[in-house]
Amino acid sequence: MKSAEIREAFLRFFEEKGHTRVASSSLIPANDPTLLFTNAGMNQFKDCFLGLEKRAYTRATTSQKCVRAGGKHNDLENVGYTARHHTFFEMLGNFSFGDYFKRDAITFAWEFLTSDKWLSLPKEKLWVTVYASDDEAYDIWTKEVGVPAERMVRIGDNKGAPYASDNFWAMGDTGPCGPCTEIFFDHGDHIWGGPPGSPEEDGDRYIEIWNNVFMQFNRTADGVMHPLPAPSVDTGMGLERISAVLQHVNSNYEIDLFQSLLNAAAQAIGCGSNEGQASLKVVADHIRSCGFLIADGVTPSNEGRGYVLRRIVRRACRHGNKLGAKGSFFHKIVAALVAEMGDAFSELKTQQAHIERVLKTEEEQFAKTLEQGLRILEQDLADLQGSVIPGEVIFKLYDTYGFPMDLTGDIARERELTLDEEGFEREMQAQRERARSASAFGLDYNSLVKVEGETRFTGYLGTSGSGKVLALFKEGMAVQSLSAGEEGVVVLDQTPFYAESGGQVGDCGYLSADGLRFDVRDTSKAGGAFLHHGILDSGSLQVGATVEATVDASVRQSTALNHSATHLLHAALRQILGEHVSQKGSLVDSQRLRFDFSHFEAIKPEQLKVLEDKVNAEIRGNTAVEIEETDIETAKSKGAMALFGEKYGDQVRVLTMGGGFSVELCGGTHVKRTGDIGLFKIISEGGVAAGVRRIEAVTGEQALAYLNTAEEQLKEAASLVKGSRDNVLDKLGAILERNRQLEKELEQLKAKAASATGNDLASSAVEVKGVKTLAARVDGLDGKALLALVDQLKNKLGSGVILLGGVQDEKVVLVAGVTQDLTGRLKAGDLMRQAAAVVGGKGGGRPDMAQGGGSDANRLDEALAIAAAFVEQGV
Ligand code: SER
Repeated sequence: MKSAEIREAFLRFFEEKGHTRVASSSLIPANDPTLLFTNAGMNQFKDCFLGLEKRAYTRATTSQKCVRAGGKHNDLENVGYTARHHTFFEMLGNFSFGDYFKRDAITFAWEFLTSDKWLSLPKEKLWVTVYASDDEAYDIWTKEVGVPAERMVRIGDNKGAPYASDNFWAMGDTGPCGPCTEIFFDHGDHIWGGPPGSPEEDGDRYIEIWNNVFMQFNRTADGVMHPLPAPSVDTGMGLERISAVLQHVNSNYEIDLFQSLLNAAAQAIGCGSNEGQASLKVVADHIRSCGFLIADGVTPSNEGRGYVLRRIVRRACRHGNKLGAKGSFFHKIVAALVAEMGDAFSELKTQQAHIERVLKTEEEQFAKTLEQGLRILEQDLADLQGSVIPGEVIFKLYDTYGFPMDLTGDIARERELTLDEEGFEREMQAQRERARSASAFGLDYNSLVKVEGETRFTGYLGTSGSGKVLALFKEGMAVQSLSAGEEGVVVLDQTPFYAESGGQVGDCGYLSADGLRFDVRDTSKAGGAFLHHGILDSGSLQVGATVEATVDASVRQSTALNHSATHLLHAALRQILGEHVSQKGSLVDSQRLRFDFSHFEAIKPEQLKVLEDKVNAEIRGNTAVEIEETDIETAKSKGAMALFGEKYGDQVRVLTMGGGFSVELCGGTHVKRTGDIGLFKIISEGGVAAGVRRIEAVTGEQALAYLNTAEEQLKEAASLVKGSRDNVLDKLGAILERNRQLEKELEQLKAKAASATGNDLASSAVEVKGVKTLAARVDGLDGKALLALVDQLKNKLGSGVILLGGVQDEKVVLVAGVTQDLTGRLKAGDLMRQAAAVVGGKGGGRPDMAQGGGSDANRLDEALAIAAAFVEQGV
């Protein structure tokens, strides 16, 4: 059976068992700061397990895109060297949200795997593990399904802490978790390995194919296991592993899906498809994670998700280089990926060109990084005392220039140097600590969100209204009351406050009742609850109290102008630059709007003007903004743009502006008519990552203020050049021209002065055994200027040996030159090595010209004296 057929059979089987087929979610988890990438099928249902979100169904089945690189469940370093580690893989899953539990989960899995109608696997080849204390699951397997006890294994807390077990699954340090039962396939005794729980379990004979997790707890950061509102089921089966079983191969890399990727990789690199197997597997694996991550909106960068992507691309490039790739090759494999997986994941097809360009740019940049790193390393080696490259140098190269440590190691070996690996590790550790304290991915999302019930949002219709306090929190802990002066979080049953989402910031304002005022500084969402963050100014606030909620309407209105203008800008960008433009992020507050989108080159000033004009024309058109609630399919059929990383419910809100000029799915708050925006002004355009541009703009009063400031600055500039608004440009032009002339004159004067110095110096040359020898101190010139001077002196002397040295920024700079007629006997490089050693440094170069330096300025005269002795001995 082909992988695609297995995927389809799985989804169909569970549909027949009453499950709703749900599309894979984005690799960028929506609204979940605890997670770097989607790493399991259950991620998109996290809130359903926690009881925070209700869906129209209680049974679901998916084929989920997963990336396990960086964060918990990180497989990156193993990829290529084992038969089944991947950075990207597909997880087939079935889920129950408080519907069925252990019995059905187990019998469904068994039926799908063994029944003749489905996968028809031989029962005697299947082994099962259960959590040691889970008698219920053990009994279902042995008594009801009939798995013999000799193929059942109980596994306890085998990883050194309570609940740390191969048979206890957790999404992360916090969040939903529970005991699990795993199904293993025995690939046969021709492969080494033992059953799960045995000392040989790490072999490749017995392979876990399906994990059924019985979700029972929510673990919070304090380690407490809170029972979930309803026990649930989360299962996961790696598509690649089950394909290997059904295609009678042991390694995932031998399945149909990987064959074409391995071939395409070999072709792009220009090697045989069997060469350096591990490296080829790395490349074939990495093209999947890179392709899918870029399609989901990640771009290579130096932090967070972008940094992980960058590391994966670079790892692929290095392995390609190992196999002899010349120039960029990685992006050439994208076409094969699209051919293989584009039918199941259409985003690959629509984003193919974007993925290729991002990868190509990143490859080219990495090639430059390598070159630059090599240069920096050369400089550091020139100053090196001893034979060990210090940890800080290796770390600087690695961290700042992206220069991998193994490459530094290769170069060190060539020069008989060694690496201070411990020092490097120390720097890495310090870096990790800095990253951990700065990272948002460790937030304890759950400590705040144990909120019963949901908040109803009333803020589309107005900016005030009453609500009942459902819950209060202080420092992340639920409390019954807040008193004056305390900071905290208030949850209401209904609120007009917009909670931050879709790029629009949360509302601010206040909650009030008799003698009570709570200042709301921000509003965010946790599951279905809206959290009002702020401080209680006066009075005391209890759970159950009724308060009047008042949003700061003018801030909300300014934000609305920016949000609506963002939609117009998005539509205008697609009209002017092309349909490839898609939103990669946005931020809308009351001061300005920021819009990131995919596009590969800087936008020309004239294009920016057209964009601005188009948006302003829509504003002047003053059409009504239409809002319609409908289901997602109808919305898409109307051409509504859905945004990456957003999680849409069953009902969506479609926002139409300019009678169809812009149609977008959006939950934000907007203006009533486009004319309300008043004026739109772009204030900057630039690149934020490869293939992603950013536009910042202002609207309404802010736009007017921006133009007024510009007007003031123009007036000030005019008065500085003693001109007026009308002739300021001419005046500035004249000043610049004068400046250019003065610079030219200065250059000529400098050249004259240098030539005079040259004449003076030339006359101080002495004869040593018939060779004109000139050694002189010239302070304050850098290496380049000294080189020019030595060149000049060579011409003046006609034949001779020159050594110039000086102190520049407390460092000694040395340049030596020998005229061609003498280089057979006297080499500038040799002279330099001797002279530089005197000032505690290094140097070298060609026989006719050499450079060097050192740090001991007190011994410069001694170094210069070397010249005469050198000629004396050499002639
Ligand atoms: N969440 C579990 C896993 O990833 C089962 O899907 O193994």
